[in-house]
Amino acid sequence: MAQTRPKRLIIDTDPGVDDSMAILFAFRSPEVRIEGLTTIFGNVGVEQTTRNALRLVELAGHPEIPVAMGAPKPLTRPFTGKGWEVHGRNGLGEAEFPEPEGQPDSRRAANFIIDTIMANPGEITLVPLGPLTNVALAVSVEPRIVENVREVVLMGGAANVAGNASPVAEANIRNDPESAHIVFHAGWPLTMVGLDVTEKTMMTPDYLDQLRAANNPFTDFISAITPHYLNFSKRLGLNGFPVHDSSALAYVIDPSLFDCRPAYVEVETRSEHYSGNTVPDWRGQRGQEPNVNVCVDVDSDRFLALYRERLTGVNA
Ligand code: BDR
Ligand code: CA
Repeated sequence: MAQTRPKRLIIDTDPGVDDSMAILFAFRSPEVRIEGLTTIFGNVGVEQTTRNALRLVELAGHPEIPVAMGAPKPLTRPFTGKGWEVHGRNGLGEAEFPEPEGQPDSRRAANFIIDTIMANPGEITLVPLGPLTNVALAVSVEPRIVENVREVVLMGGAANVAGNASPVAEANIRNDPESAHIVFHAGWPLTMVGLDVTEKTMMTPDYLDQLRAANNPFTDFISAITPHYLNFSKRLGLNGFPVHDSSALAYVIDPSLFDCRPAYVEVETRSEHYSGNTVPDWRGQRGQEPNVNVCVDVDSDRFLALYRERLTGVNA
């Protein structure tokens, strides 16, 4: 059987407990190859997410993979997010790790995104897992990345379900709605992996114990960073935590895990209470062409089995 070439990824990320778990999932999956990580404020500040990204490439044994630091705040408004309450002050569940040895790339994230996409036409899949500021800056400075990217698959938004950062908005979109508006209307192939699907997949304490039992450097890291995150979910009355950022990677690795529907999606930017709301026009009442492939359902059992198999090496 002909071997298909791995998809080449730039992951734009704010690690972050679930970002870290998603990046490790990518490192263990032969369907994808990470060309670079670009970092963004979000779960914690960008200096910290950059240190965490450097730690992750070193943990994975790939210190040569570039990590480019991105925006410290949203495009037009102050940053008011409280992600550190969920992810711990260091973004890694307050677990302690040695400082990374490497340094960030000399380019800023938006420039790295532009350079890499333009040097590899049709090749790069962009996977944003945090607020969309770097991506909005990149496409504003170099609009030709729209024709030259392979596709954009982002974790963010809530189409048919309630928000998690406000009654209507998902955190990544809420943290920079103006950038999300630019990204959603840029005209590129865009898949939204939002709360509609990410909250359907839960990693329970039992599941995390199965990962822990593998006792390899990847699962040891996951076991160290997840207790704080799990406790936050417990306080919300959940038995486990929703799988946000790894869901976007799962879509890239195996889109057949998801049901998606095309829709014209608007991002609310003006309202004080509703900004960051992603509003799909399911009935076509606005008369606009769909701009987003919206994930609406997921085969969670198959996804969780895939994640476990990739991280533990055991096909249970
Ligand atoms: C998203 O917000 C962040 O806290 C997570 O890392 C994820 O990207 C979920 O709403
Ligand atoms: Ca994230």
